[in-house]
Amino acid sequence: MRYLTCLLLWVFPRVWGQWEDQLKNYPLRCLQISSFPNSSSFRTDGLAWLGDVQTHSWRNASTVSFLKPWSHGKLSDQQWQTLEHILQVYRTSFTRDIQELVKMLPIIHYPIEMQVSAGCEVHSGNTSENFFNVASQGQHILSFQGTSFQKAPDAPPWTELAIKVLNTDQGTRETIQQLLNDTCPQVLYGLLEAGKAELDKQEKPVAWLSSVLSPRHGHLQLVCHVSGFYPQPVWVMWTQGEQEQNSTQRGDILPNADGTWYLRATLDVEAGEEAGLACRVKHSSLGGQDIILYWADGRHSSYVVFIILAVLILVVGLGLGFVFISRNRCSYRSIR
Ligand SMILES: *[C@@H]1O[C@H](CO)[C@@H](O)[C@H](O)[C@H]1NC(C)=O
Ligand SMILES: *[C@@H]1O[C@H](CO)[C@@H](O)[C@H](O)[C@H]1NC(C)=O
Ligand SMILES: *[C@@H]1O[C@H](CO)[C@@H](O)[C@H](O)[C@H]1NC(C)=O
Ligand SMILES: *[C@@H]1O[C@H](CO)[C@@H](O)[C@H](O)[C@H]1NC(C)=O
Ligand SMILES: *[C@@H]1O[C@H](CO)[C@@H](O)[C@H](O)[C@H]1NC(C)=O
Repeated sequence: MRYLTCLLLWVFPRVWGQWEDQLKNYPLRCLQISSFPNSSSFRTDGLAWLGDVQTHSWRNASTVSFLKPWSHGKLSDQQWQTLEHILQVYRTSFTRDIQELVKMLPIIHYPIEMQVSAGCEVHSGNTSENFFNVASQGQHILSFQGTSFQKAPDAPPWTELAIKVLNTDQGTRETIQQLLNDTCPQVLYGLLEAGKAELDKQEKPVAWLSSVLSPRHGHLQLVCHVSGFYPQPVWVMWTQGEQEQNSTQRGDILPNADGTWYLRATLDVEAGEEAGLACRVKHSSLGGQDIILYWADGRHSSYVVFIILAVLILVVGLGLGFVFISRNRCSYRSIR
């Protein structure tokens, strides 16, 4: 009994800890892109991401597309229909509000490009945080906070009036609160549960090395390629013995077509100073067994090949010599 208690005490924080980690890694983010090339044309497209996995898309004048078999989460078809209806009303109001705003404020001109990033993150204890940020022409201009729209720091002065107008729209404000406070965490919990198998998958990276000439004279750029890993967090560093090379340059993490990730880490070194350098990769799929690849430059490896060849020739030569000598011995014997 005592052992069981100990075991539970040992296991529970771990399982709980993993679940907490999972909640942290997977915010639900919805992106809205609205383009208004002129007063008579407009379109709004949407995307939803759970962490780094795209789950939904929503093209203008069409219904929501479910990109994963588990994209329905735990909502029924009926609930999705209701949600889609709310989103459609939101899209129509948004378009109308922008067109009204342009008429009111001569300072705003077509073409207009608006982006909205909205979503939520859930934490243990069933608490959630949410965000709703709006950018115009690529600049963050306002956020929805608590119950109303607020100006972003550094937003242009005309934003004040826009916010005043938006905040008089009680209906839209209530809808946004409902979507952020209740719908978003509900959808997120459902997706985490339904998509668990795919979200928990672990794919091991493979790594290889290459080099290119550096723009700096007499320098080489050593490149460590790491590919095929999932999930995204990864640690890649050039090292010399135990020492991490601070000047390691990490590229952007890029997507592979199969849903895994690719990253390259480069190190600029003086030609001839490559000896002892290695690329070290840590990833959750490797179970603490880091990948370590040692640099062996071209010349160095051709020496190795040369030495191996020389040894081989020597061995074969000696072998042949030995056979020849033994044969001769035999024939001497047979003569005798
Ligand atoms: C408005 O923009 C659309 C898309 O760029 C274009 O097809 C249309 O001709 C434009 N209309 C006017 C009145 O300029
Ligand atoms: C986007 O959809 C709306 C209807 O929701 C339509 O009126 C509009 O013309 C569409 N825009 C484009 C560029 O297709
Ligand atoms: C939504 O949450 C905010 C706090 O983030 C709170 O101020 C607001 O009253 C809530 N609204 C509703 C309708 O639950
Ligand atoms: C957690 O929150 C969600 C959505 O806010 C709610 O549907 C669910 O019942 C809550 N669960 C618990 C255990 O309180
Ligand atoms: C790397 O940076 C740390 C501090 O950030 C410093 O202590 C260490 O000496 C640096 N190592 C090299 C090789 O530059």
